[in-house]
Amino acid sequence: MDPRTNPFSPGAGVRPAQLAGREGLIETCEIAMDRVLGGLHATDIIMTGLRGVGKTVLLNHLATLAKAHGIEVVKFEVPDARGGHLIPAMVIALGAVLKRLDRLKRAGAGLRLAAAALQNFAAVFRVKYEGFSLGAEPARGAADSGDLETDLPELLMPVARAAGHRQSAIVLMIDEVQYLTREELSALARACHEAAQQGVPFLFIGAGLPQIAALTGEAKSYAERLFLYPEIGALAPDAACQALRAPARAQGADFTDEALERILAETECYPYFLQTWGKFAWDTAERSPITADDIAAAGPAIIAHLDQNFFRVRFDRCTGLEQQYLRAMSELGPGPHRTGDIAAALATTSQRLAPVRRSLISSGMIHAPRYGETGFTVPLFDGFMKRMLPALEPYKPKRRSGK
Ligand SMILES: Nc1ncnc2c1ncn2[C@@H]1O[C@H](COP(=O)(O)OP(=O)(O)O)[C@@H](O)[C@H]1O
Ligand SMILES: [Mg+2]
Repeated sequence: MDPRTNPFSPGAGVRPAQLAGREGLIETCEIAMDRVLGGLHATDIIMTGLRGVGKTVLLNHLATLAKAHGIEVVKFEVPDARGGHLIPAMVIALGAVLKRLDRLKRAGAGLRLAAAALQNFAAVFRVKYEGFSLGAEPARGAADSGDLETDLPELLMPVARAAGHRQSAIVLMIDEVQYLTREELSALARACHEAAQQGVPFLFIGAGLPQIAALTGEAKSYAERLFLYPEIGALAPDAACQALRAPARAQGADFTDEALERILAETECYPYFLQTWGKFAWDTAERSPITADDIAAAGPAIIAHLDQNFFRVRFDRCTGLEQQYLRAMSELGPGPHRTGDIAAALATTSQRLAPVRRSLISSGMIHAPRYGETGFTVPLFDGFMKRMLPALEPYKPKRRSGK
Protein backbone atom coordinates (compact mmCIF):
# COMPACT_ATOMS: atom_id res chain seq x y z
CA MET A 1 0.00 0.00 0.00
CA ASP A 2 1.07 3.61 -0.35
CA PRO A 3 4.07 4.36 1.88
CA ARG A 4 3.13 8.06 1.78
CA THR A 5 0.13 7.38 3.98
CA ASN A 6 1.75 4.71 6.18
CA PRO A 7 0.72 5.73 9.71
CA PHE A 8 3.22 3.58 11.63
CA SER A 9 6.33 5.10 13.07
CA PRO A 10 8.98 2.93 14.72
CA GLY A 11 11.68 5.10 16.26
CA ALA A 12 12.97 6.17 19.66
CA GLY A 13 10.62 8.74 21.13
CA VAL A 14 8.58 9.05 17.92
CA ARG A 15 4.99 9.84 18.77
CA PRO A 16 2.70 7.03 17.60
CA ALA A 17 -0.44 7.84 15.63
CA GLN A 18 -2.34 6.14 18.45
CA LEU A 19 -0.92 6.28 21.97
CA ALA A 20 -2.70 3.13 23.07
CA GLY A 21 -3.24 1.58 26.48
CA ARG A 22 -1.64 4.16 28.75
CA GLU A 23 -4.78 6.01 29.83
CA GLY A 24 -4.51 4.93 33.47
CA LEU A 25 -0.96 6.12 33.92
CA ILE A 26 -1.64 9.37 32.08
CA GLU A 27 -4.54 10.03 34.40
CA THR A 28 -2.42 9.30 37.49
CA CYS A 29 0.13 11.84 36.28
CA GLU A 30 -2.50 14.43 35.37
CA ILE A 31 -4.03 14.14 38.83
CA ALA A 32 -0.60 14.63 40.37
CA MET A 33 -0.03 17.74 38.23
CA ASP A 34 -3.41 19.20 39.17
CA ARG A 35 -2.71 18.53 42.84
CA VAL A 36 0.60 20.41 42.87
CA LEU A 37 -1.00 23.25 40.91
CA GLY A 38 -3.69 23.37 43.59
CA GLY A 39 -1.08 23.59 46.34
CA LEU A 40 -1.49 19.96 47.42
CA HIS A 41 1.11 17.25 47.75
CA ALA A 42 1.54 14.60 45.06
CA THR A 43 3.86 11.63 45.18
CA ASP A 44 6.72 11.83 42.68
CA ILE A 45 6.69 9.25 39.92
CA ILE A 46 9.37 7.18 38.21
CA MET A 47 8.02 5.15 35.29
CA THR A 48 10.03 2.02 34.71
CA GLY A 49 10.16 -0.29 31.73
CA LEU A 50 12.30 -2.05 29.17
CA ARG A 51 13.57 -0.45 25.96
CA GLY A 52 10.92 0.33 23.39
CA VAL A 53 7.86 0.15 25.64
CA GLY A 54 7.08 3.85 25.19
CA LYS A 55 8.58 5.67 28.17
CA THR A 56 9.98 8.59 26.18
CA VAL A 57 6.79 8.99 24.20
CA LEU A 58 4.79 9.08 27.43
CA LEU A 59 7.11 11.60 29.02
CA ASN A 60 6.77 13.86 25.96
CA HIS A 61 3.02 13.50 26.06
CA LEU A 62 2.96 14.37 29.77
CA ALA A 63 5.16 17.41 29.13
CA THR A 64 2.66 18.68 26.58
CA LEU A 65 -0.18 18.12 29.02
CA ALA A 66 1.71 19.88 31.80
CA LYS A 67 2.35 22.93 29.63
CA ALA A 68 -1.31 23.01 28.65
CA HIS A 69 -2.11 23.14 32.38
CA GLY A 70 0.17 26.18 32.74
CA ILE A 71 2.95 24.25 34.45
CA GLU A 72 6.62 25.04 33.86
CA VAL A 73 8.36 21.94 32.55
CA VAL A 74 12.04 21.28 33.14
CA LYS A 75 12.86 18.30 30.97
CA PHE A 76 15.97 16.53 29.75
CA GLU A 77 17.44 13.12 29.03
CA VAL A 78 20.59 11.69 30.61
CA PRO A 79 22.62 10.41 27.64
CA ASP A 80 24.85 7.87 29.37
CA ALA A 81 26.26 6.70 32.68
CA ARG A 82 29.38 8.87 32.62
CA GLY A 83 27.97 11.38 35.08
CA GLY A 84 28.10 15.16 35.07
CA HIS A 85 25.03 15.69 32.90
CA LEU A 86 22.57 16.70 35.59
CA ILE A 87 24.11 20.01 36.63
CA PRO A 88 24.53 21.70 33.23
CA ALA A 89 21.16 20.38 32.01
CA MET A 90 19.50 21.76 35.11
CA VAL A 91 21.16 25.18 34.78
CA ILE A 92 20.10 25.60 31.15
CA ALA A 93 16.53 24.41 31.73
CA LEU A 94 15.99 26.43 34.89
CA GLY A 95 17.39 29.56 33.25
CA ALA A 96 14.69 29.25 30.60
CA VAL A 97 12.02 28.69 33.25
CA LEU A 98 13.02 31.80 35.20
CA LYS A 99 12.84 33.85 32.02
CA ARG A 100 9.29 32.66 31.40
CA LEU A 101 8.26 33.22 35.00
CA ASP A 102 9.61 36.76 34.77
CA ARG A 103 7.43 37.36 31.73
CA LEU A 104 4.37 36.08 33.59
CA LYS A 105 4.89 38.57 36.41
CA ARG A 106 7.87 40.85 36.60
CA ALA A 107 10.61 40.62 39.16
CA GLY A 108 9.43 40.27 42.75
CA ALA A 109 11.59 39.24 45.66
CA GLY A 110 10.88 35.53 45.18
CA LEU A 111 12.08 35.47 41.62
CA ARG A 112 15.19 37.42 42.58
CA LEU A 113 16.04 34.78 45.17
CA ALA A 114 15.59 32.03 42.60
CA ALA A 115 17.74 33.85 40.06
CA ALA A 116 20.46 34.38 42.66
CA ALA A 117 20.38 30.70 43.64
CA LEU A 118 20.77 29.72 40.00
CA GLN A 119 23.72 32.06 39.57
CA ASN A 120 25.37 30.67 42.69
CA PHE A 121 24.72 27.10 41.64
CA ALA A 122 26.19 27.66 38.17
CA ALA A 123 29.22 29.40 39.64
CA VAL A 124 30.03 26.84 42.33
CA PHE A 125 29.73 23.93 39.88
CA ARG A 126 31.61 25.89 37.19
CA VAL A 127 28.89 25.79 34.58
CA LYS A 128 28.99 28.64 32.13
CA TYR A 129 25.79 30.54 32.64
CA GLU A 130 25.05 33.81 30.95
CA GLY A 131 21.34 33.44 30.99
CA PHE A 132 18.78 35.08 33.11
CA SER A 133 19.84 37.50 35.77
CA LEU A 134 17.86 40.18 37.51
CA GLY A 135 20.99 42.12 38.16
CA ALA A 136 20.79 40.73 41.66
CA GLU A 137 24.05 40.37 43.52
CA PRO A 138 24.33 36.66 44.14
CA ALA A 139 23.19 36.26 47.73
CA ARG A 140 25.69 34.29 49.72
CA GLY A 141 24.53 31.05 51.21
CA ALA A 142 21.95 29.78 48.71
CA ALA A 143 22.94 26.79 46.58
CA ASP A 144 26.62 27.65 46.75
CA SER A 145 28.17 25.04 49.07
CA GLY A 146 29.53 22.87 46.26
CA ASP A 147 27.76 19.85 47.73
CA LEU A 148 25.16 18.79 45.20
CA GLU A 149 22.88 17.19 47.76
CA THR A 150 22.65 20.49 49.62
CA ASP A 151 22.62 22.79 46.64
CA LEU A 152 20.12 21.09 44.34
CA PRO A 153 17.25 21.43 46.85
CA GLU A 154 18.35 24.99 47.64
CA LEU A 155 18.13 25.77 43.95
CA LEU A 156 14.84 24.04 43.21
CA MET A 157 12.86 25.27 46.23
CA PRO A 158 12.99 29.01 45.41
CA VAL A 159 12.29 28.29 41.74
CA ALA A 160 9.21 26.25 42.68
CA ARG A 161 8.10 28.98 45.10
CA ALA A 162 8.48 31.63 42.41
CA ALA A 163 6.35 29.45 40.11
CA GLY A 164 3.77 29.08 42.86
CA HIS A 165 3.54 32.87 43.20
CA ARG A 166 2.51 32.93 39.57
CA GLN A 167 -0.18 30.24 39.97
CA SER A 168 2.16 27.82 38.24
CA ALA A 169 4.26 24.85 39.37
CA ILE A 170 7.46 23.10 38.34
CA VAL A 171 7.43 19.63 36.85
CA LEU A 172 10.91 18.16 36.52
CA MET A 173 11.06 15.37 33.94
CA ILE A 174 14.17 13.29 33.46
CA ASP A 175 14.42 10.49 30.91
CA GLU A 176 16.90 7.60 31.35
CA VAL A 177 17.19 8.31 35.09
CA GLN A 178 19.09 5.05 35.60
CA TYR A 179 22.12 6.78 34.07
CA LEU A 180 22.33 9.36 36.87
CA THR A 181 25.24 8.76 39.23
CA ARG A 182 24.56 7.76 42.79
CA GLU A 183 25.43 11.28 43.95
CA GLU A 184 23.08 12.82 41.40
CA LEU A 185 20.28 10.43 42.37
CA SER A 186 20.78 11.19 46.05
CA ALA A 187 20.58 14.91 45.38
CA LEU A 188 17.45 14.44 43.30
CA ALA A 189 15.77 12.32 45.97
CA ARG A 190 16.72 14.89 48.56
CA ALA A 191 15.21 17.69 46.47
CA CYS A 192 11.96 15.73 46.07
CA HIS A 193 11.92 15.06 49.79
CA GLU A 194 12.46 18.74 50.65
CA ALA A 195 9.78 19.84 48.19
CA ALA A 196 7.27 17.52 49.87
CA GLN A 197 8.18 18.80 53.32
CA GLN A 198 8.15 22.47 52.39
CA GLY A 199 4.94 22.17 50.39
CA VAL A 200 6.29 23.91 47.29
CA PRO A 201 4.55 23.23 43.97
CA PHE A 202 7.05 20.77 42.55
CA LEU A 203 6.58 17.36 40.95
CA PHE A 204 9.16 14.95 39.61
CA ILE A 205 8.28 12.53 36.82
CA GLY A 206 11.13 10.34 35.67
CA ALA A 207 11.47 7.41 33.32
CA GLY A 208 14.07 4.70 33.18
CA LEU A 209 15.03 1.06 33.01
CA PRO A 210 13.66 -1.22 35.73
CA GLN A 211 16.80 -1.19 37.88
CA ILE A 212 16.06 2.43 38.81
CA ALA A 213 13.83 1.39 41.71
CA ALA A 214 16.73 -0.46 43.34
CA LEU A 215 19.20 2.32 42.48
CA THR A 216 17.15 5.07 44.11
CA GLY A 217 16.61 2.85 47.15
CA GLU A 218 20.37 2.37 47.47
CA ALA A 219 21.03 6.08 47.03
CA LYS A 220 18.52 7.09 49.69
CA SER A 221 16.70 4.62 51.88
CA TYR A 222 13.59 6.82 52.07
CA ALA A 223 13.39 6.90 48.25
CA GLU A 224 11.33 3.72 48.28
CA ARG A 225 8.47 5.63 49.85
CA LEU A 226 9.21 8.88 48.07
CA PHE A 227 8.38 7.66 44.57
CA LEU A 228 5.70 5.65 42.84
CA TYR A 229 7.28 3.26 40.37
CA PRO A 230 4.60 2.43 37.81
CA GLU A 231 5.76 -0.30 35.43
CA ILE A 232 5.26 0.23 31.73
CA GLY A 233 5.34 -2.99 29.78
CA ALA A 234 3.91 -4.65 26.73
CA LEU A 235 0.43 -3.43 25.81
CA ALA A 236 -2.64 -5.45 26.72
CA PRO A 237 -3.91 -7.32 23.62
CA ASP A 238 -6.86 -4.93 23.19
CA ALA A 239 -4.60 -1.91 23.32
CA ALA A 240 -2.15 -3.54 20.91
CA CYS A 241 -5.00 -4.10 18.42
CA GLN A 242 -6.02 -0.50 18.84
CA ALA A 243 -2.43 0.67 18.27
CA LEU A 244 -2.54 -1.04 14.87
CA ARG A 245 -6.14 -0.71 13.83
CA ALA A 246 -6.95 2.88 14.77
CA PRO A 247 -4.15 4.44 12.69
CA ALA A 248 -4.94 2.15 9.74
CA ARG A 249 -8.63 3.02 9.85
CA ALA A 250 -7.85 6.71 10.05
CA GLN A 251 -6.22 6.21 6.62
CA GLY A 252 -9.22 4.29 5.29
CA ALA A 253 -7.51 0.87 5.57
CA ASP A 254 -7.70 -2.09 7.95
CA PHE A 255 -6.16 -5.37 9.14
CA THR A 256 -8.08 -8.65 9.24
CA ASP A 257 -8.49 -10.12 12.73
CA GLU A 258 -6.11 -12.96 11.78
CA ALA A 259 -3.46 -10.48 10.65
CA LEU A 260 -3.69 -8.66 13.98
CA GLU A 261 -3.48 -11.93 15.90
CA ARG A 262 -0.35 -12.83 14.01
CA ILE A 263 1.33 -9.47 14.71
CA LEU A 264 0.39 -9.65 18.37
CA ALA A 265 2.00 -13.09 18.63
CA GLU A 266 5.18 -11.99 16.82
CA THR A 267 5.63 -8.78 18.81
CA GLU A 268 4.32 -9.96 22.17
CA CYS A 269 2.52 -6.59 22.12
CA TYR A 270 5.67 -4.51 22.67
CA PRO A 271 5.07 -1.03 21.22
CA TYR A 272 8.29 -0.62 19.25
CA PHE A 273 7.76 -3.97 17.55
CA LEU A 274 4.10 -3.24 16.89
CA GLN A 275 5.12 -0.07 15.05
CA THR A 276 7.77 -1.93 13.06
CA TRP A 277 5.49 -4.80 12.05
CA GLY A 278 2.68 -2.37 11.25
CA LYS A 279 4.93 -0.27 9.06
CA PHE A 280 6.34 -3.19 7.07
CA ALA A 281 2.99 -4.91 6.77
CA TRP A 282 1.53 -1.72 5.30
CA ASP A 283 4.35 -1.26 2.82
CA THR A 284 4.34 -4.85 1.57
CA ALA A 285 0.60 -5.54 1.39
CA GLU A 286 -0.94 -4.97 -2.04
CA ARG A 287 -4.28 -3.80 -0.71
CA SER A 288 -6.45 -3.34 2.35
CA PRO A 289 -7.37 -5.22 4.45
CA ILE A 290 -3.92 -6.47 5.37
CA THR A 291 -4.16 -10.25 5.81
CA ALA A 292 -2.34 -12.92 7.81
CA ASP A 293 -0.75 -14.03 4.53
CA ASP A 294 0.65 -10.54 4.03
CA ILE A 295 2.15 -10.69 7.52
CA ALA A 296 3.61 -14.15 6.93
CA ALA A 297 5.17 -12.99 3.66
CA ALA A 298 6.68 -9.86 5.24
CA GLY A 299 7.88 -11.66 8.41
CA PRO A 300 11.42 -12.71 7.44
CA ALA A 301 12.28 -9.24 6.11
CA ILE A 302 10.93 -7.62 9.27
CA ILE A 303 12.97 -9.87 11.53
CA ALA A 304 16.09 -9.25 9.44
CA HIS A 305 15.43 -5.52 9.64
CA LEU A 306 15.00 -5.58 13.42
CA ASP A 307 18.13 -7.67 13.84
CA GLN A 308 20.19 -5.26 11.73
CA ASN A 309 18.80 -2.01 13.04
CA PHE A 310 17.47 -2.52 16.52
CA PHE A 311 19.25 -5.43 18.18
CA ARG A 312 22.56 -5.46 16.34
CA VAL A 313 23.76 -2.00 17.45
CA ARG A 314 23.46 -3.08 21.06
CA PHE A 315 25.16 -6.42 20.43
CA ASP A 316 28.08 -4.74 18.63
CA ARG A 317 28.81 -2.51 21.62
CA CYS A 318 29.50 -5.57 23.80
CA THR A 319 32.80 -7.34 24.32
CA GLY A 320 33.14 -11.02 23.43
CA LEU A 321 32.64 -12.09 27.03
CA GLU A 322 29.59 -9.89 27.39
CA GLN A 323 28.13 -11.46 24.26
CA GLN A 324 28.76 -14.90 25.72
CA TYR A 325 26.95 -13.89 28.89
CA LEU A 326 23.96 -12.63 26.90
CA ARG A 327 23.96 -15.82 24.85
CA ALA A 328 23.87 -17.92 28.01
CA MET A 329 20.90 -15.90 29.26
CA SER A 330 19.00 -16.53 26.03
CA GLU A 331 19.64 -20.26 26.36
CA LEU A 332 17.41 -20.10 29.44
CA GLY A 333 14.60 -18.21 27.64
CA PRO A 334 13.26 -14.65 27.77
CA GLY A 335 14.01 -14.23 31.49
CA PRO A 336 14.61 -12.79 33.97
CA HIS A 337 16.85 -15.59 35.17
CA ARG A 338 18.60 -16.50 38.37
CA THR A 339 22.15 -15.25 38.12
CA GLY A 340 23.41 -18.63 39.32
CA ASP A 341 21.58 -20.41 36.50
CA ILE A 342 23.30 -18.20 33.93
CA ALA A 343 26.68 -19.09 35.41
CA ALA A 344 25.72 -22.76 35.36
CA ALA A 345 24.81 -22.51 31.67
CA LEU A 346 28.36 -21.24 31.06
CA ALA A 347 29.82 -23.96 33.31
CA THR A 348 31.31 -21.41 35.72
CA THR A 349 30.41 -19.49 38.88
CA SER A 350 28.48 -16.26 39.46
CA GLN A 351 31.53 -14.88 41.19
CA ARG A 352 33.73 -15.22 38.13
CA LEU A 353 31.04 -13.61 36.00
CA ALA A 354 30.40 -10.72 38.39
CA PRO A 355 32.57 -8.17 36.50
CA VAL A 356 30.94 -9.01 33.14
CA ARG A 357 27.51 -8.78 34.67
CA ARG A 358 28.34 -5.44 36.31
CA SER A 359 29.55 -3.89 33.08
CA LEU A 360 26.46 -5.13 31.22
CA ILE A 361 24.26 -3.55 33.89
CA SER A 362 26.09 -0.23 33.79
CA SER A 363 25.82 -0.05 30.00
CA GLY A 364 22.09 -0.76 30.30
CA MET A 365 22.05 -4.10 28.42
CA ILE A 366 20.75 -6.10 31.38
CA HIS A 367 19.18 -5.27 34.71
CA ALA A 368 18.60 -6.85 38.07
CA PRO A 369 14.84 -6.80 38.70
CA ARG A 370 15.37 -8.47 42.07
CA TYR A 371 18.37 -9.53 44.08
CA GLY A 372 20.11 -12.46 42.39
CA GLU A 373 18.13 -12.08 39.16
CA THR A 374 19.19 -10.88 35.75
CA GLY A 375 17.03 -9.87 32.80
CA PHE A 376 17.44 -8.32 29.36
CA THR A 377 16.55 -4.64 29.10
CA VAL A 378 15.42 -5.16 25.50
CA PRO A 379 12.33 -7.30 24.92
CA LEU A 380 12.75 -10.35 22.65
CA PHE A 381 16.54 -10.11 22.90
CA ASP A 382 16.81 -13.83 23.63
CA GLY A 383 15.57 -14.77 20.18
CA PHE A 384 18.01 -12.37 18.55
CA MET A 385 20.98 -13.75 20.50
CA LYS A 386 20.17 -17.25 19.33
CA ARG A 387 20.00 -16.08 15.73
CA MET A 388 23.34 -14.26 16.09
CA LEU A 389 25.19 -17.00 17.95
CA PRO A 390 23.56 -20.33 17.22
CA ALA A 391 25.84 -22.29 19.58
CA LEU A 392 26.41 -21.69 23.29
CA GLU A 393 30.10 -21.94 24.17
CA PRO A 394 31.34 -22.60 27.72
CA TYR A 395 32.86 -19.58 29.47
CA LYS A 396 36.52 -19.21 28.55
CA PRO A 397 38.06 -15.88 29.44
CA LYS A 398 41.17 -15.20 27.37
CA ARG A 399 44.32 -16.10 29.28
CA ARG A 400 46.71 -13.26 29.87
CA SER A 401 49.65 -13.63 27.52
CA GLY A 402 52.70 -14.73 29.51
CA LYS A 403 54.83 -11.62 29.20
N1 LIG B 1 1.25 3.42 23.78
C1 LIG B 1 1.78 3.22 22.57
N2 LIG B 1 1.01 2.81 21.54
C2 LIG B 1 1.56 2.63 20.31
N3 LIG B 1 2.84 2.82 20.03
C3 LIG B 1 3.65 3.23 21.00
C4 LIG B 1 3.17 3.44 22.32
N4 LIG B 1 4.19 3.85 23.09
C5 LIG B 1 5.29 3.88 22.29
N5 LIG B 1 4.98 3.53 21.02
C6 LIG B 1 5.96 3.41 19.93
O1 LIG B 1 7.02 2.59 20.41
C7 LIG B 1 8.28 3.08 19.98
C8 LIG B 1 9.20 3.25 21.19
O2 LIG B 1 8.77 4.30 22.04
P1 LIG B 1 9.78 5.03 23.05
O3 LIG B 1 8.99 6.04 23.78
O4 LIG B 1 11.00 5.48 22.33
O5 LIG B 1 10.16 3.81 24.03
P2 LIG B 1 11.20 3.81 25.26
O6 LIG B 1 11.50 5.24 25.61
O7 LIG B 1 10.51 3.07 26.34
O8 LIG B 1 12.41 3.07 24.78
C9 LIG B 1 8.01 4.35 19.18
O9 LIG B 1 8.07 4.00 17.81
C10 LIG B 1 6.61 4.74 19.58
O10 LIG B 1 5.94 5.36 18.49
MG1 LIG C 1 13.32 6.21 25.69
